[in-house]
Amino acid sequence: MCLLRSLCVFWLLPLTLMLEEDSQLDCVPRRTVPYHSDNALRFREEGVFNYSSMLLREDLGLLVLGSREAVFALDLKDISNKIASVEWKVSQQQVDDCKHKGKDPETECKNYIRILHKMEDGRMYVCGTNAFDPECKYMSYAGGSLTFEGAAEDGKGKCPFDPFQNYASIMVDDSLYSATSMNFLGSEPVLMRNSEASLRTEFKSSWLNEPIFASMAHMPESEQSDDGDDDKVYLFFSEAAVECDCFNKLVVSRVARVCKGDQGGERTLQRKWTSFLKTRMDCPVLDSQLPYLIQDSYRWCDLRLNWKDCIFYTIFTPQSDTSDLSAVCAYRVSDISKVFSSGKYKTPVPVETSFVKWVMYSGEVPVPRPGACINNEARSEGITQTLDLPDRTLQFIKDKPLMDQAIQPIGGRPVLMRRGATFTRITVTQVEDADGEMSHVMFIGTEAGTVLKAVNYDGEMFIIEEVHVFQSPEPIKNLKFSNVTGQLYAGSDLGAAQMPLATCERSLTCWDCVLARDPYCGWDSVDGRCVFLSSSQRQLIQSVKKVDVSLCPPVERTEPVIRSIWPGGNLKLSCPSPSNLAKVSWEQDKKALTPSTRLQLQQDGLLILNASVNQAGLYRCLIVEHFKDKEYTTVGAEYQVQIDPRGPGKGGDVLNPQAQTDGPSVAGLQAGVGLLLIFLLALLGWNFYKGHLPLPCIKKKEQQSQQKLDREAQSSKVTYRDGVTAENKHLVSDTPHSGSNNNHAGGGGPLPDSDNDGPAVNLPSMQYIDDESEI
Ligand SMILES: *[C@@H]1O[C@H](CO)[C@@H](O)[C@H](O)[C@H]1NC(C)=O
Ligand SMILES: *[C@@H]1O[C@H](CO)[C@@H](O)[C@H](O)[C@H]1NC(C)=O
Repeated sequence: MCLLRSLCVFWLLPLTLMLEEDSQLDCVPRRTVPYHSDNALRFREEGVFNYSSMLLREDLGLLVLGSREAVFALDLKDISNKIASVEWKVSQQQVDDCKHKGKDPETECKNYIRILHKMEDGRMYVCGTNAFDPECKYMSYAGGSLTFEGAAEDGKGKCPFDPFQNYASIMVDDSLYSATSMNFLGSEPVLMRNSEASLRTEFKSSWLNEPIFASMAHMPESEQSDDGDDDKVYLFFSEAAVECDCFNKLVVSRVARVCKGDQGGERTLQRKWTSFLKTRMDCPVLDSQLPYLIQDSYRWCDLRLNWKDCIFYTIFTPQSDTSDLSAVCAYRVSDISKVFSSGKYKTPVPVETSFVKWVMYSGEVPVPRPGACINNEARSEGITQTLDLPDRTLQFIKDKPLMDQAIQPIGGRPVLMRRGATFTRITVTQVEDADGEMSHVMFIGTEAGTVLKAVNYDGEMFIIEEVHVFQSPEPIKNLKFSNVTGQLYAGSDLGAAQMPLATCERSLTCWDCVLARDPYCGWDSVDGRCVFLSSSQRQLIQSVKKVDVSLCPPVERTEPVIRSIWPGGNLKLSCPSPSNLAKVSWEQDKKALTPSTRLQLQQDGLLILNASVNQAGLYRCLIVEHFKDKEYTTVGAEYQVQIDPRGPGKGGDVLNPQAQTDGPSVAGLQAGVGLLLIFLLALLGWNFYKGHLPLPCIKKKEQQSQQKLDREAQSSKVTYRDGVTAENKHLVSDTPHSGSNNNHAGGGGPLPDSDNDGPAVNLPSMQYIDDESEI
């Protein structure tokens, strides 16, 4: 049994074995932005929960939010501004009926708004679970208010009965395509089109086998089609694999598609899809033998290009709880479309009694090709609609909707992997960086209420930042991007949040701005600020791929901050790192400092305890960040620590540095130093002018000392920042990963052992076991 299961698994993941050993399993976000009231605009209504559907109405300037028993219209520019709302509650009679059927009146017997789509006439189509009796209504927005129109329609097959059940839907040309369960028990899964000519899938395990629906997408494949093809609707889901001859249930990810013009068959497949084809989707992740399962998919298209260039960015999570890795794989629509239009089918063959094996079908395929949309070729044979299709074609597709070949991601591996909070939603935007190159920026919602912003630079995974948008770790259930407002909208059970695509001001130095590798941000060396690329007319410093920090201008230098402490006293020297990928180390009088009971390294600084005269000296905090084989060192802070023998109460420092007001004294010091410098320079200039001094000729040395000066200058910039630490605290990294996790290290932190599935043995000869047995 164990052997069979593992054989099956090896057959499923041939590509996994081909991945390089050093494949980067965990990508640590460079910056962590803790929750703060300023990092997003938020909406929540007292006593209302489960904001589970979201619709962008850019034409009306609204974000429409469906929740439990209510729909809200919010200002798209600022969602904390509620413009209208309308209630949709269930009647007491309905609650009683629902309760009578054994459901919980406080949770299940409510109306959860699950479906929210725009109609072509500008109205909206809204469906709710309605106390286990789904219904749909039309809703319009006019004169600043939302109104439901007309009588409710039956929502069976459009919206789930059970609010905890997964579903997916899309509106195409005013027809609702829905993937949900059709009955009260949740045992009849369907992919359905709801129009005058309603169509659905067969109730057969070869069509849908305990599916969990993830998302749907429309592809305009009729556009510029050479063979007169039709538009398609894609469905992403996971289900128990019928083709796996395992004793244990094995779940796999799937993509299925139907043709928009499908009308069902005349006799066979009457009022059923004649074009339902599905296949497996692989996202090979090295650490697991069980296939990863699809959670969400985002259709990314460049409007200037053909649909063939569209990409599905898809989230996967493990099916066993021994791993906490999530992944994003990207698929070319053309690769998927090719498998459906010209790939081989799978067919069931009985082996022994009551056991069916699915193998590749190599017999004759009827014409027109089963599952194909009506195209020019079919039309030339006089078949102009699916109702004209011959029984042979229809019977074939009824029995064999599964394709043999699985879909592989672009590059054969994930574009992003991350341990920790499970990925839930994804949305992708394209941005042109300062070099005129296009980057796809992924925004990913997680179960912990965070949004990750990530890029794959030529195969290299990079998470720019992780923002805690919600206060409690609640799963993000909706994530949308408006190209009109340039804002991102996230929804959870407890509320909604809105944030910009980039907050460049989080980088306070040019170094940090460049190392952040955010294609939206660049350093303005005139203003000395990290700014949004498209908001600036100036030439900005940005280097997202090469990460060339040497482009940054030198920073003016300042003196080390002077701190005094009495013998036996305690002192904290602060040095927060802007990056989780950086290592922080300290020097005392230019020598590497070894931590001891007296000198303790902390997350954001150095703690001097029970000081003695040995602790006096010049302290320097070095922040080292790696990029490929390069190492960038910047001085994070510099302190001159003096031991004041006069004892306590005579001007010595105390522990809590935040409470101190060393800001003004630093400023005063700087002013003094500045004045002195100006005076000296003037004196020097006068002497040169008068010829009292020869001009120095020390080219090489000059360079060196210039470098040294630059380094020190970096330090002083950050040192000065130290004075405003308290204010910046919420913006600057503060994660427990900081410092200890070094990008490629494979992830620190308390993680469960992900090797429980057994070692990944090399079994190349067993990879395609199933495919050898053809008929
Ligand atoms: C609704 O929200 C509450 C509060 O977060 C949550 O506990 C519950 O599971 C949600 N119900 C559904 C059906 O999503
Ligand atoms: C936003 O995207 C839509 C399609 O999703 C497109 O029609 C529109 O032109 C875009 N608007 C802007 C301002 O880019």
